[in-house]
Amino acid sequence: MNVKQLAAEKAVEYVVDGMKVGLGTGSTAYWAIRKLGERVQEGLKITAVATSVASEEQARELGIPLVSFGDIDGLDLTIDGADELNHDLELIKGGGGALLREKIVARGSKRMIVVADESKAVG
Ligand code: A5P
Repeated sequence: MNVKQLAAEKAVEYVVDGMKVGLGTGSTAYWAIRKLGERVQEGLKITAVATSVASEEQARELGIPLVSFGDIDGLDLTIDGADELNHDLELIKGGGGALLREKIVARGSKRMIVVADESKAVG
């Protein structure tokens, strides 16, 4: 298991029954969504909002219940990947082209976990 996968799967441990979860976009979010799908298949009850067509298709294939952002009041937790981060944990996102939906979903979430492996460290 690679570090990116390990970190993404750790973030999924924060998801509990009843949560509305924002699904990020990219290769890190892929691993988080995959793990979330496993947990849903094991009985976890959540609804999710995706930040891209790719994440939406992955979630649908895994049986994760999806809703539109406009159909809910807000989200409990969003899990997404970073593009770069520094030693002060300041980070940037958006390199994958899903920034608008990512920003809307992040803004509407009570909490956000941004997952980054060592390859994202700069400075
Ligand atoms: C998508 O618009 C981006 O913000 C990605 O979430 C970000 O680039 C992280 O992608 P990776 O997990 O693929 O590195």
